Amino acid sequence: MKIINIVGARPNFMKMAPIIEALNRHPDRFEHLLVHTGQHYDQRMSKAFFEDLGMPRPDIDLEVGSGSHAEQTGRIMMAFERVCRDELPDLVIVVGDVNSTMACTITAKKLGIKVAHVEAGLRSRDMDMPEEINRLCTDVLCDYLFTTDTLADENLRAEGVAEEKIHFVGNVMIDTLLKHREMATGLALSRELGLAPGGYATLTLHRPSNVDDRETLSGILESLAEIAREMPIVFPIHPRTRKMVGQFGLDHYFNEGKKVEGIWITEPLGYLEFLHLNMNACMVLTDSGGLQEETTVLGVPCITLRHNTERPVTLTQGTNQLVGNEPQAILDAARAVLEGRGRKGRVPEKWDGRSAERIVDVLLREGDELM
Ligand code: UD1
Repeated sequence: MKIINIVGARPNFMKMAPIIEALNRHPDRFEHLLVHTGQHYDQRMSKAFFEDLGMPRPDIDLEVGSGSHAEQTGRIMMAFERVCRDELPDLVIVVGDVNSTMACTITAKKLGIKVAHVEAGLRSRDMDMPEEINRLCTDVLCDYLFTTDTLADENLRAEGVAEEKIHFVGNVMIDTLLKHREMATGLALSRELGLAPGGYATLTLHRPSNVDDRETLSGILESLAEIAREMPIVFPIHPRTRKMVGQFGLDHYFNEGKKVEGIWITEPLGYLEFLHLNMNACMVLTDSGGLQEETTVLGVPCITLRHNTERPVTLTQGTNQLVGNEPQAILDAARAVLEGRGRKGRVPEKWDGRSAERIVDVLLREGDELM
């Protein structure tokens, strides 16, 4: 079976790495190529992850870069259509919910190629999120829908997806986390930065709904500055957020100095470095999707600066809580964690390091139909 695996943006890499590894265990059954759309292209947003995760270099880089949603999606579709015509794959595998995921799905399906979506069925019900549109378009077209939890299965069923397309396999991102956990523990980074276990928080912020409006962003930063009086906040800043902070003139909230204090910003970190910091943090403040899941497995309280989540299992079973982006709500939640009232959780079913293996088992079982 000839497969094209797609990655485009940072959160895709840790999801694809274990799938490639699992496919590699069956060289007699699978031939596979890795296509990078180039949606993320900075060294720290892309190449660093290939190195950290031991991933093969992409066979093909579409080099589409940034642009408006339509520009980026359109460029990916045009470039990927040529790849499909040249390579004639039996199956395309996409992961997550970024523009690259949707663009490659539409392109392949219109050429009559089967598509598998890993992390299918997640729904925030928030159509202002570009990712929600990507999820819906991707899932309605895909032939194989691999899900992380049974709530996602229910979402797909409610949308009329045929039962035989849905496969509950668990969370491939957690395969990667569990594989690298020990390696990350051993890093010296927190010692070098003078951070004691439990004595700091980490932060990520990049959603358009939080960073593209000056008033919203400054309100968030005001509340974070308050928290940072009690414990330093390590903030690896996303390029999009850095750009907006510059445009809005909000740089004064940050400390970029040698000593880690206040809201301390740094360039985006590598996978292992950030895992290392999150594992020992008192709390994680974030608007990312993946971190809500990673903190659940690490048992670290997660304060999510969003009003909704496509990953409700992290609320019902994990350490996650949604606080929105109102300054007082962020402050109250952080204070509760500082006072030892953070959420404790358990690890959801099948988040056990074997999800990629389950995906490959399905492909081995049903693969003949694909060819
Ligand atoms: C994308 C995903 C989002 C994911 C996030 C993780 C979509 C719609 N969004 O958002 O779901 O959570 O990745 O990071 O697919 N930029 C750089 N260098 C890069 C990449 C981006 O400077 O390597 C800057 C550019 O100014 C660009 C902006 O960041 O315009 C936004 O990049 P884009 O890929 O459009 O979306 P993200 O905000 O990164």
